Amino acid sequence: MNKRLMQTALITCLLASGAASTSGMAQESTQAAIDFRASVMTTFKWYVQPMGAMAKGKIPFDAARFKSRAEGLANATRLDVSEGFPEGSIEESDAKPEIWDNWDEFLSNYRNLQDEAVKLQQVAATGDEQAMLAQFKKTAETCGSCHKKFRQKKES
Ligand code: HEC
Repeated sequence: MNKRLMQTALITCLLASGAASTSGMAQESTQAAIDFRASVMTTFKWYVQPMGAMAKGKIPFDAARFKSRAEGLANATRLDVSEGFPEGSIEESDAKPEIWDNWDEFLSNYRNLQDEAVKLQQVAATGDEQAMLAQFKKTAETCGSCHKKFRQKKES
């Protein structure tokens, strides 16, 4: 092989491996995005659960604990979960394809959660039990309405 041919072969080879690793990365980052959104959602659940149990009367109302969870939720909703939803990333997840057909609506569902969570944090600072529980309900409804439209129902 002359020098030029060698170079061409080398470049072709590099390009090919580059292309292969780029597509590998693309797959990996879709998985990373799915992991990211699942962890953000799991984080929401962590903050919401005790407030939900208080709202249902399953555990006694505890204003201080409620306030700290409301703060945590408001902080967590500052994360931009939409980054975790690259177009068409439905495999091995409960995300519905409708998300990308209605992207603006999906984003506005998320903004509703962000707004209600900030209000919840503000109301929780007052210690007014009735107002806190009422605002919790509104906040939790924003989770529910997005799930209803954009999340696959679990079969079990
Ligand atoms: C903007 C829409 C939207 C909002 C708002 C939203 N979710 Fe989700 N949530 C989803 C979608 C879509 C999935 C499915 C994601 C998947 O399976 O990859 C999901 C999945 C979840 C999961 C399962 C995570 C896992 O283990 O895979 C939990 C738990 C969850 N959400 C809790 C919440 C809570 C609590 C709130 C409110 C504080 C909330 N979500 C608000 C869209 C939303």
